[in-house]
Amino acid sequence: MTAPTLPPTAHDLVASLLAAAEPLAPQVIAWRRHLHQHPELSFEEHATAQYVHEVLAALPGLELSRPTPTSVVARLRGSHPGRTIAVRADMDALPIDEENNVPYRSTKRGVMHACGHDGHTSIVLGLATLLSGARDQLAGEVRFVFQHAEELSPGGAEQLVEAGVMDGVHEVIGLHLWSSMPVGKIGIVSGPAMAAPDTFQCTITGRGGHAAMPHDTVDPIAIAAQVVTALQQIVSRQVDPLEPAVLSVTQFIAGTAFNVIPNSAYLSGTVRTFDAALRTQIPERMERLIRGICDGFGATCEFTYELGYRPVINDAALTARLTEVASRTFGAHVLEPLRPVMGGEDFSAYQQRAPGVFAFVGAGNVDRGITAAHHHPRFDIDEASLGVGLRYLVAATVELLGG
Ligand code: NI
Repeated sequence: MTAPTLPPTAHDLVASLLAAAEPLAPQVIAWRRHLHQHPELSFEEHATAQYVHEVLAALPGLELSRPTPTSVVARLRGSHPGRTIAVRADMDALPIDEENNVPYRSTKRGVMHACGHDGHTSIVLGLATLLSGARDQLAGEVRFVFQHAEELSPGGAEQLVEAGVMDGVHEVIGLHLWSSMPVGKIGIVSGPAMAAPDTFQCTITGRGGHAAMPHDTVDPIAIAAQVVTALQQIVSRQVDPLEPAVLSVTQFIAGTAFNVIPNSAYLSGTVRTFDAALRTQIPERMERLIRGICDGFGATCEFTYELGYRPVINDAALTARLTEVASRTFGAHVLEPLRPVMGGEDFSAYQQRAPGVFAFVGAGNVDRGITAAHHHPRFDIDEASLGVGLRYLVAATVELLGG
């Protein structure tokens, strides 16, 4: 009679998985380069989802599903019951023409992985590969969520949550490669981490006419200019200086000729906040201000305001745990103190259903000229960041399964 084999401790399992992550690195880079060469826009990730599905289908022990036409979910059940951990990767690209001259440059004009989602997908494919090979030693379930459409409201996350991908999930984790942070660093913000990105549009209608006879017109350009200036005072004069808020007017469209006062002017922009009360106050104040100015000058306005994703709020206890995991895995020097960012992320949709932590993984490298901002035509990542992201997720997932 043979003695039953004792399950290895979580520590041994992490050590063996981290060792296995090393030789997998070239494969993760190859996946990333394939995805980078074949980017697809939000809600159009058909070939991407197919590719991800094919990679996952070759791995043992995964149950695959396609909750929406361009997403893929893989469930890995360990050998005995336990907790369920969801790991999310987003897969969509942006309508940007790539300006990098690299061998893996986008083959599609006007479409580019300019935010690093190709890297996120590859990292989580790597995680699925490693964990599926170790499924006999795992308890519980890991749910790999390959999400479509992070970049375009209403976003893919909400749809996947509605489709039930968070049912039974105890904790959810995800990451974002971050080009403004050096490769080799990880930043995890506790609490509010990314803002709610809301949008507004405003059409101001006056009365057009001859540019030489302004007194016979109601000039929407002059009025819209006052509106733009006045809107700046909402954040600077009406919001607590210690409460983060941004109001940016990003479009001002009016007129067709130098000698014509147009009939209308169009403004649009974005508001970013964390605080729920402030998030409802700002649009009310904007509308009151815009209507007041338009009234005063005899113009009318149409104002619309759309709520975007909820803010990303990292669970404090889980953040402390995963910060400790990152420190244990790489050494305390890996941790980069980060402040919240005013960018938005639909990872927040998953956090409505379970505590979650969204981490930033450094992907920039000044010495190699990898410094372009996200959403820039020269955006790129130092591919060593893929290995960092993979090792972080391996250690984090095993830690959470063990908890
Ligand atoms: Ni992104």
